[in-house]
Formats: sequence, structure tokens, C-alpha cells
Amino acid sequence: MKVLQTCVSESKLLPLESQADLAMDQVTFRSDTVLSDVHLLLPNACHLMKRLNSVGQPVFTSKFRILRDCDGKESSGESPVRESTVASNVPLDEDGDLDVLRRPRSSSSNRDAVCPIILSQSAATLTDEEEDSEEEDGARDVIRVEHTMATPLEDVGKQIWRGAFLLADFILAQASMFTGATVLELGAGTGLASIVMAMVAKTVYCTDVGDDLLSMCQRNVTLNKQHFEPQESEIRVRQLDWMADDLCTDADLDFCWTDAEIGDLHDNTTFVIAADVCYDDDLTDALFKTLYRLASNMRHPITTYISIEKRLNFTLRHMDVSCEAYDHFHHCLDQLQQMTDGKMSFIVEPVKSSFPQFFQYERVEQLELWKVTAERL
Ligand SMILES: C[S@@+](CC[C@H](N)C(=O)[O-])C[C@H]1O[C@@H](n2cnc3c(N)ncnc32)[C@H](O)[C@@H]1O
Repeated sequence: MKVLQTCVSESKLLPLESQADLAMDQVTFRSDTVLSDVHLLLPNACHLMKRLNSVGQPVFTSKFRILRDCDGKESSGESPVRESTVASNVPLDEDGDLDVLRRPRSSSSNRDAVCPIILSQSAATLTDEEEDSEEEDGARDVIRVEHTMATPLEDVGKQIWRGAFLLADFILAQASMFTGATVLELGAGTGLASIVMAMVAKTVYCTDVGDDLLSMCQRNVTLNKQHFEPQESEIRVRQLDWMADDLCTDADLDFCWTDAEIGDLHDNTTFVIAADVCYDDDLTDALFKTLYRLASNMRHPITTYISIEKRLNFTLRHMDVSCEAYDHFHHCLDQLQQMTDGKMSFIVEPVKSSFPQFFQYERVEQLELWKVTAERL
């Protein structure tokens, strides 16, 4: 029974496959496969496999449309929080893709108080024909992301998580704040938030660990270069392991850093972003250590935005629902804010999720955004 309690409580993301093997007094509980709600809840999703990656996992392409006004601008305005709803009778175009309803051009008295009307999200493998038509028609509004589905915990970065969309919404809602900036993303996974950031920032260092994941991320960056190359912004996909003390500069390794890049990172970065990166206590500790080290090496004060989803799990240990990963994240935020080492000071603030939604996903109330401002004393 004790073994079962321990193992159940280890399920931190959404367990897809759980298997209990009972052998007299020994219980083994396997729950190591997770599936992101982004892929689970896609309405009318067409999950066609595109290829197998180098470790034999099926790779899919999803298209995410940026909801804009009719005049081509991103939606704006201080809109109230609005949970997106997945309509069961969403309109489809003739290819079966979902059709986005545009906001009307004419303004009504309360127009600014209305969030984008979210009706659809298309997710489908692009055929060559579809890719051509995307290029001609509205590629500007569509981000295409290659990803896998239902991965073991160590490969969660190959899926897209709702926290990435919350951060992407925030970036587009606060575009002027990020314009021309140098930004570092930690735990970027498929690279969605970095791609959105590069639409406004000048340089984005998009970082994670593992050649396989970083290669997928690099492919996504290349797939979406039309979103940031015209304004001469760039995304550099690089290895940054929170468990390591230094950035990798071994030129024989892929995704390593050059000295010039490290110099640029330290001299020019003003923002750090991270989406859904706190789901394992050891990793969260390492992430906060990394944040501290980075902040102390930067020439400018840095502001970090971290999105997190409060995942509730029932555990036999507590005989109740708990959210241990979220609680640990809070503990780390508190520690950072209370730190008095005479070298750095940190201010932690929650960010109200009252910014408009530019992507269609479920902005559930468990999704949160936190701002951490760091300054050298
Ligand atoms: C739940 S995924 C989130 C991915 C992406 N930010 C998103 O929201 O779609 C967590 C990410 O943290 C990354 N990660 C885990 N351990 C790490 C480490 N030691 N150093 C850097 N990144 C790490 C994973 O590879 C993964 O990409």
C-alpha cells in the first residue's frame, strides 16, 4: 500500500496510461505517459501522422491561427477574462479546416470590452497543397508546429502545453513592451512561445535540453520564419540545461553557444520567459537556481514571466486532491522574494489573466502567469 501511495503521488502531469500490477503485498503503479490538453481537446482535430522522429515517435503538425481584427491587427483592448468555449457546431471550410469568425470592422460602443470570438482551431497535417494555399492565403495568421502526442514524462517538451498559449497571448497583448528586446526562453519545448515572441522582439534565445527536442524546435522555427524574418528578428535555438552550471560551448555539439552569443545574452537580455516548466520539484529547484544565476550575470535588470498550470491530483497519501508541483513552485517564488544575500533582490507579482485571447485553447482558471523582477543590488 505504501508503494502505491508513493507512486500515485508521482503523477504530476495528466496521466494517460495507468497500470497497476498487484503481486501479493507489492503494488507497482505505472503512469508515465502524459497527453497535453492542447492535443486532447482539439475540436475536429485531424491527427494525421507526418513522420517518425529519430527515436521512432510519430510527429504531427498542428496549425494555430492568430485571431486578429479584420484590419489585420492583433486584437487589442483590456478585455475581461473569458474562458474560451469549444463550440460543438463550429463552422468548417470546404477542406474541413475550422473557420475563424473575424471581429466586425465597425466599432460598437463596447467593442474594446469584447475578447476575440474564438470559434475554432485547426489542427491538421498539412499536405503540399494545403501548404501552398497557406502561403498564398493567410500564412501570416497561422503558426504551424510539429509535435508528438502522448509522450513519456521525459519527453513532455515535444507536446504543446496550455501555458505556452497563455504566454503567447500575453506577448501579443503586450507587444510594445517586448518590441526590439533580447529575450531568453527557458524550457521552450516545441518553440511556440519563442516564435510568437520573435514577431515583436529582436533576438530570442530559445532554449531547452536534448538534441532530439531541440531539432524539432529548430524545424518549427524554420517552418515559421515568415513571421519574424521580414522584420529581421531572429530565433537562436540553443541548449540550456538547468541542471548544468554553465552554458554548453563545445563547438562539436549541436545547439551549443558561441562566446559572442553568450556575450549578447548577458549584455542585452531584458526578458526571460518560461511556459509550464514547473512540474517536478527537482527541476523546479534547478530552474530557480538557473534564474538566479542568469539574473546575476545580466548587465540589465531582467523581468521573467512564468506560466504555470495548477494541476490537481488525487493522492492516496493525502486522501484528497493536492497540487504538489504548484505548491513547490510557490515555495520557490517565496524563497526568491525573501532572499537577502545582499547581491540580488527579487519582486514577485501575479499577472492578471485579463488580456485578450489570440489563440483558441481553454484558458482555464488554473492557468496562471507570474512576473519576477530581478535587480542587482
Ligand atoms: C511541460 S514542457 C513545456 C514546454 C513548452 N514550454 C510548452 O509550454 O509547450 C516542460 C519543458 O521543460 C524542459 N526541461 C525539463 N528539464 C529541463 C532542464 N533540466 N533544462 C532545461 N529544460 C528542461 C522540457 O524539456 C520541456 O520542454
